Parts: sequence; structure tokens; C-alpha cells
Amino acid sequence: MAENSNKRIALVTGANKGIGYETARQLAKQGMIVLLGARDEQRGKEAAVKLQSEGLDVQFLRLDTDNQKTHEAARRFIEDKFGKLDVLVNNAGIALDLMQKPSEVDMQTLRKTFDTNFFGVIAVTQTLLPLIRKSDAGRIVNVSSGLGSLTQNSDPSWEFYQVKPLAYNASKTALNAFTVILAHELKDTAIKVNSADPGFTATDMNDHRGYKTVEQGAAVITQLATLASDGATGSYFDDKSVLPW
Ligand SMILES: NC(=O)c1ccc[n+]([C@@H]2O[C@H](COP(=O)([O-])OP(=O)(O)OC[C@H]3O[C@@H](n4cnc5c(N)ncnc54)[C@H](OP(=O)(O)O)[C@@H]3O)[C@@H](O)[C@H]2O)c1
Repeated sequence: MAENSNKRIALVTGANKGIGYETARQLAKQGMIVLLGARDEQRGKEAAVKLQSEGLDVQFLRLDTDNQKTHEAARRFIEDKFGKLDVLVNNAGIALDLMQKPSEVDMQTLRKTFDTNFFGVIAVTQTLLPLIRKSDAGRIVNVSSGLGSLTQNSDPSWEFYQVKPLAYNASKTALNAFTVILAHELKDTAIKVNSADPGFTATDMNDHRGYKTVEQGAAVITQLATLASDGATGSYFDDKSVLPW
């Protein structure tokens, strides 16, 4: 029997560290019940305990974007416990080819990157969508990257013009396509779907070379996860503006 809570329920994937962890904190600070998604039970539980020690309503939920069985188990858990899902933040992601030339990246790296950053996001979203439809204000945030913008990739004056890992950038471009196309399907519902670019943020993904803090990186995700009913859908934002596709 689902709990009858007035609180909004959020799930953040890949939330045991980095931008996802900080997003979980920010959403919980806004009064949500946050399910901290992680593929590894120990890392996920430890991260949840840390946020609980700050007095936040956070619980670990095992979710590996590459493993459909964990998506189904997550759906059953959320359905039984809460009966709905208000916010889904598709944050989990990998970058395996940051140092590789596009002409040399191997097919395995391309496929693995797309499995996690693209196919996994679609699979998780499709599995959980029936529960998001039960929310009166569903919000789906796909954590993309400025590196997924074809316009920016083609602009020699763009700050990150030289950064061209094919697998990573193309997986985020594909993710942006999912945002646009799913938002179109859901345009007459209460669900908004947007892509977020956290910006170059110091995390394990880039050996902490990013110049933004995780607090700054997560801010745009939190904003899109809490958009008002007249907010955008099918769009792509960083913390300053709308980005070109
Ligand atoms: N940092 C940046 O500058 C930057 C810029 C633009 C966009 N982004 C995006 O922001 C998101 C978060 O990245 P981050 O910088 O915070 O990187 P991070 O510190 O490496 O964190 C990535 C998270 O994703 C999880 N993950 C990876 N594969 C997974 C899978 N198959 N199933 C579930 N979880 C999985 C990791 O779990 P484990 O701990 O188990 O590996 C980790 O929790 C990513 O989508 C990334 O592409 C980052």
C-alpha cells in the first residue's frame, strides 16, 4: 500500500557522487523525498547515510542504467511505496574517450558509452513513465552536456571547441534528441522534459579539472526539476541561458 505523503518524490540516477549526489542534496533541501540511485549498493548506501546525517529525507535505491532488471525493481519499489514519481533526474553518465581521437575510438567504447548515456536513459525513463504520469507535475531532467550541442561543436569561438570525444559528445547529442522527441509526445500532459548542461564541473569524470563546484553544476538541474507549470519543456539550458541544439 503506497504511503500517502504530500511530499514530492524524486529519483536521481548516479547519485552516489559528483553532480548527482549534490542534486540529490539540493532536491531534498527543497523538501522532497529523494531516492538516491546508484548501481553499487555500498557506495549508494554510504552516500544516502551522509545526506541523512544532514537531516535530509534521502534513501538509497539500487539502479544500474545498463541493467533492465534494476529498472523494473525500482519501478515496483516506487509504486508500492509512493504510488507515483514526481521528478526523474537522468544523471548517471560515463565519459570513456576524453583522450581519444574520433578517428581512433573503438566500437566497444562507442557502444558502452551509448548504452549508459543514451539507451540506459531511455530504458529507465520508459519503465518509470507510468509512475511519472501519476504526478500532477512530472519533471524529467536529462543531464546532458554543452558538448552534446552540434551548434557549439561547430563554433570555433566556443570555449570548448577543441573538446571532441566522439562517443561522449555524440551520446549527449542523442540524449538531447530524446529530450525533444519525448517532450513532444508529452506536450499535452503535466510532464516537462528538458536537457541540462551543468558546465565544466570538478568531479571524478574529469579528474576534478572542472572550474565549477558541484553546487554550481547541480543548480540548473535542480531548477529544471522544480520548474513551475508555465516553465519550458523540450529545451536545453545551462545556468545562464537556453543553449542551441
Ligand atoms: N563534470 C562535468 O564537467 C560535466 C559536464 C557536463 C555534463 N556532465 C554530466 O553530468 C553527469 C554526472 O557526471 P559527474 O561529473 O558527476 O561524474 P561522476 O562524478 O563520474 O559521476 C557519475 C555517476 O554516474 C554513475 N554511473 C555511471 N554509470 C552508471 C550506470 N550504468 N548506472 C548507474 N550509475 C552509473 C557513477 O556511479 P559509480 O560511482 O558506480 O561509477 C556516478 O555516480 C553525467 O551525465 C555527465 O555526463 C558532467
